Amino acid sequence: SIGKMVSIPLYTKRALIVGVLAFVVFIIFENGPIRLPVLIDGHVDERFERVKQVFTQNFNDGWERGGASLTVYHHGKKVVDVWGGYADRASLRKWKEDTLQVVFSTTKGVGAVCVAMLVDRGLVSYDDLVIKHWPEFGQNGKDNVTVQMLMSHASGLSYLDENLSVEDAMDHKKISAMIENQKPHWPPGTQTGYHIYSHGWLLDQLIRRVDTKHRGIGQFVREELHDAHGVDFHVGLPNEEVVRVARLTAPSVLDRAAKNLMTVSESMDYRNPFSPLQDSMLSRALGNLPWLESVYQMTVNNPDYWKIEQAAALGVGNARGLAQIFSLLGEKKLVSQKTIDLLKVSHYKDVDLMMGAPIIKGNGLFYTPLNRGESGYYIGHSGHGCQQVMVDFGNGIAVGYTNNALKTAMGEMCRTWNRLYNSIYDSLDL
Ligand SMILES: *[C@@H]1O[C@H](CO)[C@@H](O)[C@H](O)[C@H]1NC(C)=O
Ligand SMILES: *[C@@H]1O[C@H](CO)[C@@H](O)[C@H](O)[C@H]1NC(C)=O
Repeated sequence: SIGKMVSIPLYTKRALIVGVLAFVVFIIFENGPIRLPVLIDGHVDERFERVKQVFTQNFNDGWERGGASLTVYHHGKKVVDVWGGYADRASLRKWKEDTLQVVFSTTKGVGAVCVAMLVDRGLVSYDDLVIKHWPEFGQNGKDNVTVQMLMSHASGLSYLDENLSVEDAMDHKKISAMIENQKPHWPPGTQTGYHIYSHGWLLDQLIRRVDTKHRGIGQFVREELHDAHGVDFHVGLPNEEVVRVARLTAPSVLDRAAKNLMTVSESMDYRNPFSPLQDSMLSRALGNLPWLESVYQMTVNNPDYWKIEQAAALGVGNARGLAQIFSLLGEKKLVSQKTIDLLKVSHYKDVDLMMGAPIIKGNGLFYTPLNRGESGYYIGHSGHGCQQVMVDFGNGIAVGYTNNALKTAMGEMCRTWNRLYNSIYDSLDL
């Protein structure tokens, strides 16, 4: 045995055992008592019982450590609307029907829908040069950037050389000047690199210039989606809604391990946002908002930040609002068929310079290969911690999924989401 081959002094052995036990206890209690009652509420149409079972299973298997919401529309009809778990596990506050949360980059998907609406109204075209609408943008080598490049993370503006204070982030004029002065980090249009935060500023600036009323993204979403269609989604949250917002928690040690043990090389990859090796384009992009943190310190729980109209990361909503927006899109309530035809086509499929993996993108959306029924892709956006919004135009499906106990993956790499969307397609025999 190992004991015979290597002689370990007794006190070292005891110290090791105590250390291991302490670590196990830490992991078990990191998120409070490990088993709280799993409370699931909401409605599913008979055909989709399986989806609710899988949603519940995610909690029972310990994959869902906080709360979550899932909504599915099929041909414009809401067929799944379930929620469960805890909006704040520490205080045992339950997730309710109208609970909201910061939904991170799924906000980019909503921004893409807003721009598509402006395209549909003939106010801007994806092929336009940005300088047609925003002449000052052309400075420092950006005169040939098209709206499509801007929407597809191909403008080379993946981060700004200067960081933004909280005050800067609320000042669209200052941000406009910062973007105008910025040199692209690669020749625009040649490659793509996820504009993790700057995408939100770019969307807002573009909308302000092409919208007939020159609204910002916050006002546009409020008037065109919230007021016009009753969608519970906010970019810049009004104070009176703050009470509904769930508390976000960082991925647990176990959760990180479950992901990283399988992919040690990935976790040491400098392009990985969770890697300790810091100076990458991605770390600089994250450093652009040094006060906003959502991996370890979770400053994103500061309600002051929810007022910021940051369309890349700080939208506040839930599965229902997200799914509703993408269902309205699919059912041609927001745009006509000609714009849907444009959205069906992706524009870039190269290895993303920021994320180090290929991401199929275009029109402000991500395209995920799918071999089910009538569609080759589902189209939408994933968000930090395993948030998701998608539309499948061919099969008439729109889905939103949000959760407040964040996970260390994105998109189809998220085991909770993976299971959920498969159960939806299985329910439809697709
Ligand atoms: C933009 O395109 C024009 C015409 O093709 C070209 O002359 C110019 O050098 C381009 N500008 C940049 C910054 O690449
Ligand atoms: C931006 O913030 C990051 C993170 O706090 C810091 O490392 C970096 O030096 C800052 N950059 C500038 C130009 O101040």
